[in-house]
Order: sequence, then C-alpha cells, then structure tokens
Amino acid sequence: MKQSNSIVNIFGREIIHLSHVDSTNNFAATLISDQLCQNGTAILADSQSFGKGQRGNVWYSDPGKNLLVSFILKPDKLSVSKQHELTWITSICIVKTLGIFNIESQIKWPNDIFVGNKKIAGVLIENQLTGEYISNSIIGIGLNVNQVSFGEIDATSMQVELNKEISIEIFFNELCNQMNSHFGKIQKSEANLKSEYESLLYRRNELFSYEDENGNFEGKIIGVNKNGFLQIEVGKEIREYGIKEIRYCSK
Ligand code: BTN
Repeated sequence: MKQSNSIVNIFGREIIHLSHVDSTNNFAATLISDQLCQNGTAILADSQSFGKGQRGNVWYSDPGKNLLVSFILKPDKLSVSKQHELTWITSICIVKTLGIFNIESQIKWPNDIFVGNKKIAGVLIENQLTGEYISNSIIGIGLNVNQVSFGEIDATSMQVELNKEISIEIFFNELCNQMNSHFGKIQKSEANLKSEYESLLYRRNELFSYEDENGNFEGKIIGVNKNGFLQIEVGKEIREYGIKEIRYCSK
C-alpha cells in the first residue's frame, strides 16, 4: 500500500553507535550543525558522561546496561505551537514498544514513562527553530533495560520487571518500527493522537494530591488541552498547568 506521509521508515535507517559520548543529544546537535545526518538518524551510546535530563538534571545510567538514544527528526512544516505532538507520539511509541515485551506502562505527564509508580524511561526533546517552524528535533530517550539497582531513585527496568536480561538491540529495533509506523500521525490526526495519549496517562481519573503555586490540593487528571497543558479537575473546576507549574504528591 502506498504511504501518504513523509515520515516512513526513516528511524533507524542510519545508526551511529558510540561506546562513549558526553550526551547523545549533544552529539546529535553537532551532527546537525555540521550537516552530517539524515532525517531519522539515530545516535546510540553505551555510556554518557553528561547525560542530559529534563529541567537541567543529569541522566545517570550504568554503562552498557540501558538504551541511550537520540533520534534526529527534520519535520516537514511543524509549527512550534505543535511541539507537544512530538512529546505525545514519542511517549506513545515507548509505551507501545514496552507492551510488545509484555510490560504495561503509563505516561506521567508530560513524558516520563512509568511502570506502576516507578520510572522506566525519560524523554528529552530539544527543538531547533527556523522562524515559527521546527527545523530539527532531537528526540533523546533514556530507557532502563538491564540496570537492576538505582540507589535512592524510585526507578525500574525491563530486567527488574521481567526477571530476565533483555537485548537492547532488539528493543531499539522494535522502537524504530513503532516510530516509523506512528510518527506520520503528527499534524494529520491530532484528535486521535491526543486521545491516545490521554488514555495512557498515569493517575488519570483518580483522585490524588498535587501541589501548585498556591499549595496542596486534591484533584483528578482528566487529560490535556490542545496545547499540551495538563488538565486537572478540582471539584467543578478544571485547572490547566504547563511544565514546572505542578508537582505530583505521593498520595
Ligand atoms: C528525563 O529527565 O526524564 C529525560 C532523560 C533523557 C535521557 C536521554 S539518554 C539519551 C539522550 N541523551 C541525553 O543526554 N539525554 C537523553
């Protein structure tokens, strides 16, 4: 069947595998500025000395144990106002790939992947803009595959969940397959993408405690708005939050 979108089978077509790098996201940025990459190029590393996490955090990973990858995407006329769709689709693809391995996961808004109450993967998307459009997107994914101890951090891995070692390469190939089949939905079926993302949200429709700038409150996550803001129902009111505006409390 003829595919109508341009994002078809690009992910994983070109793979650069490094044994060590500061950050695969940084390496991707250098490739972009040197014009040395294709749309969909994947940079994999066994270890990073300065893995970048969200909100300026460092992403730690035992060498050789986990998936550390950055994909370069050159979107076709994707407005910066739609950048949350990249977050949605990436998170959905990770959940679907984990599902292939019989691991049920959810998305802790905006893009942490949780199994139960433990984080198994994180996503850091860094976009480069030309005017109002995203010219390059670096989609960085850190997924715990075979690491079994996380110190104080409440995290899990595929090996912890399944009690057996998992091939990082096989997981990566499945992730590329999912991304190749689903990224074409960006801009084309926003409503479906939004409802699929919402159906996978951690703590959705359950009463939990949260904290915003005014203090603690109880509410139910009901979804996201069309700009990607988190919606929490508090009594009869629906509150909307952007990144850094809300904190999940443990109970
Ligand atoms: C988070 O804080 O949850 C996001 C973590 C993202 C980590 C990945 S590991 C591969 C890629 N390279 C980086 O430097 N960061 C991302």
